[in-house]
Amino acid sequence: MCGIVGYVGRAQAAPIVLDGLEKLEYRGYDSAGMAIFDGERIHITKSVGRLKVLQELTHDGGTMPGCLGIGHTRWATHGAPSDENAHPHFNAKETIAVVHNGIIENYLPLKKKLEGRGYTFRSETDTEVLAHMLDYYYKGDPMDAIIKVLHRVEGSYALGILFADFPGELFAVRKDSPLIVGQNKEGCFIASDVPAILRYTREVTYIENQEIVRLTADGLHIYNVDEEEVEKTPVTIEWDAEAAEKAGYEHFMLKEMYEQPKTVTDTISPRMRGNEIIIEELGMDDGKLRQVKKLHIVACGSAYHAGVTGKYVLEGLARIPVEVDLASEFRYRNPILEEGAMVVVISQSGETADTLAALRESKKRGFPVLGIVNVVGSSIAREADNVMYTWAGPEIAVATTKAYSAQLVALYLLAMKLAQVRGTVTQEELAGMMDDLRRLPDQIELLLNNKNRIQRFANRYIAARDVFFIGRSIDYAISMEGSLKLKEISYIHSEAYAAGELKHGTISLIEEGTLVAAVSTQPELYQKTISNMVEVKSRGAFVLAVTCEGNREIEKAADYVIYIPHTNRFFTNSLAIIPLQLFSYYVAVGKGCDVDKPRNLAKSVTVE
Ligand code: F6R
Repeated sequence: MCGIVGYVGRAQAAPIVLDGLEKLEYRGYDSAGMAIFDGERIHITKSVGRLKVLQELTHDGGTMPGCLGIGHTRWATHGAPSDENAHPHFNAKETIAVVHNGIIENYLPLKKKLEGRGYTFRSETDTEVLAHMLDYYYKGDPMDAIIKVLHRVEGSYALGILFADFPGELFAVRKDSPLIVGQNKEGCFIASDVPAILRYTREVTYIENQEIVRLTADGLHIYNVDEEEVEKTPVTIEWDAEAAEKAGYEHFMLKEMYEQPKTVTDTISPRMRGNEIIIEELGMDDGKLRQVKKLHIVACGSAYHAGVTGKYVLEGLARIPVEVDLASEFRYRNPILEEGAMVVVISQSGETADTLAALRESKKRGFPVLGIVNVVGSSIAREADNVMYTWAGPEIAVATTKAYSAQLVALYLLAMKLAQVRGTVTQEELAGMMDDLRRLPDQIELLLNNKNRIQRFANRYIAARDVFFIGRSIDYAISMEGSLKLKEISYIHSEAYAAGELKHGTISLIEEGTLVAAVSTQPELYQKTISNMVEVKSRGAFVLAVTCEGNREIEKAADYVIYIPHTNRFFTNSLAIIPLQLFSYYVAVGKGCDVDKPRNLAKSVTVE
């Protein structure tokens, strides 16, 4: 996730900006840059790669004098990591410099308009649009230009802006991306997150959506979009530097779980316009999409589990046949790919060796490959024919949570798009599904807020030896992910089973007190899963049920029930996974495991 830092004051800005960027390194980034006003003009230094490169280029900031500056660590979204795409971005006259965290959703039409007005672009980023728009609207009043731009952009942003005409002022604004400001005797600061400025001040003000901040060496003023000053009280940060990196959460995994509502919003909202699903990145018009006869989804681990959910959703909604393969199997099984097949590889890192090999194998055979990838510019993103990005931002905890949730909704969008072009859903049904998708982030939030109850339950299972997760159809897919989450971070043996399959052998493992988590969200299968719950309960199992609100009947067969809110039956996994993630997390915390870095595991598996 991009990081922003800015300073205006009596001290030299560049070392402070570099120091702040260093403190934001944990957020993940692929390039870094700074814009510093030296008393006469704004200078930008930026480079792809680690912050070290920028530190070397500027001799730790020494070569960039001046007391006003902004800096940025970039996590690529629009355009691969490169010097040109790194922030800050200038207007043509180099009198306005911008750093941006977020995504400008309507940047393409805005870019077209600006090009029509004679503006030329040096980068592929959405951010450069902002620099040129500010230039277009700037007639001597920075606030006026900023407000005009805000009224025209859609998406999320936290911006730091320098105007060469205002050498003692730093401007900042946000909507849906984090921004804080702070002040000490020497000057004022902006940042994406507390660690960047903790060394200079513990009094921090959180900027709200569409508030604009004007900072000078002597103080800062916050305004709303009507240019009325807003009074805000700073909060005192008590966290130490390590806790501040995690925004006060105990682990990155918990923080990332709490980022899921935003991740889902960021992944779906640019692709839902009015009543239409628009996935430009597919690189295929409706006619071409209609020619796709079969999908092969290929991935590893949690991404594979997202693919299994995808199979149920794609087949159910778009009535298109789908095969799902583990990448390590696909690459060696000489798979049968027939005319009209399209391969979909799913990967958070975009670097997983087996998934990459499966992609290459498919391309070698002449089949189109769509990547559903989180890391822009990664190997899979570069080599796939088309890429649909999940906008989860960098994931630091080894066990995936938010990237998995983003993969799920990306697959729902794909299924809805295919259903639309194949005519397997009516426009009315599609509109209903879009409403359900838009509600998911709030529903996820609601479930996350139920964490205390799940923590109390989890504490009872710290000493568990075996745990089983069961479910049917789409609930089986989520059982697989629930089981993986538990075993990888708590080291408790766990298995996922299709509920109807238990009696074919596995049920002999059920003993007095064995925990069985039964997921049952599909109304037409409630009775069937309840029967399977009764089977294990009568053999001594303790049954935890995850089901939809209103399904009170399940209480007869379960010892403990977690209800999820109503949504479209194809989207339930996005909600059912939340209590399962929380359960795994609290069991692992209770056992004292290294939650963010489980033993023997790596975040990016670049070996076979
Ligand atoms: C589990 C987990 C892994 C990854 C798998 C694929 O929590 O994170 O199972 O899902 O290693 O990784 P990517 O998605 O990077 O290809």
